[in-house]
Amino acid sequence: MTRLQNKIAVVTGATSGIGLGIAKQFSKEGATVIATDLQPGNIDEEVPEATFMRLDVSSEEDWKQVVKSVIEEHQTIDILVNNAGIHFPDKLLETSLDDYNRMMDTNATSVFLGMKEVVPHMQRNENGSIINIVSLAALTGSGAARGNGTAYSAAKGAVRALTNHAANHFAKDRIRVNAIFPGPIKTPIMGERQHTIEENNRDVVPLPPHHGEPIDIAHGAVYFASDESRFVTGDELVIDGGSVR
Ligand SMILES: NC(=O)c1ccc[n+]([C@@H]2O[C@H](COP(=O)([O-])OP(=O)(O)OC[C@H]3O[C@@H](n4cnc5c(N)ncnc54)[C@H](O)[C@@H]3O)[C@@H](O)[C@H]2O)c1
Repeated sequence: MTRLQNKIAVVTGATSGIGLGIAKQFSKEGATVIATDLQPGNIDEEVPEATFMRLDVSSEEDWKQVVKSVIEEHQTIDILVNNAGIHFPDKLLETSLDDYNRMMDTNATSVFLGMKEVVPHMQRNENGSIINIVSLAALTGSGAARGNGTAYSAAKGAVRALTNHAANHFAKDRIRVNAIFPGPIKTPIMGERQHTIEENNRDVVPLPPHHGEPIDIAHGAVYFASDESRFVTGDELVIDGGSVR
């Protein structure tokens, strides 16, 4: 499996759920993976070839340090996956300003910061693939993705727009920027709500088992990361089991 041979990939939120699935699959496909997150988790056992670096995606200083270290070591970054995120389902009247801002910092401003630090290196190489992990919440506000709240939907909507903006702006530099919109995927992000959400999914996610696994998103990410998608940018790949929206 060599679809990502000789590529240097930075993945955020890479020690759990979808990010871990992406890190694993990228590594299997031959990429050198820099797995970033707040904590290393079991990354050493799960993806032994990956290098862990601590990165709080909402910190500009952290981004600067991590990108500097990766460039010093590898001279380039070919792939950036903006995946790290948090979730809470509060509706508009229940959401405090602090929580709203925390969500925007972690799920949206983070993507701006990551692209801002990494794009200049991709421009230098005239090559790069950025993959932003969005959500059905960006398309529906909540809708069929019933568990989503105000701040989460707003943040994911911002990431959708940032993806399109960057895709348009950096195509001339041969930098591709694409988005994946996962439907319900079985990961720790939903916490105790996972059980209820799975039950609800029977009505709204037609394809059994009515939720996806991280590997389902990872397969899409490999396509966007590889040269197979060299003529694809600004694309919005929905991987959601046919969710009713
Ligand atoms: N699981 C789903 O159903 C689903 C659906 C749509 C979109 N998504 C999106 O997929 C992405 C991954 O979610 P997941 O389901 O794998 O959740 P998860 O909780 O399993 O993983 C999220 C990871 O992000 C990390 N993280 C949180 N805050 C961070 C910060 N400030 N800096 C760095 N890392 C941070 C966590 O430590 C964790 O490892 C998120 O952006 C989420 O919004 C998930």
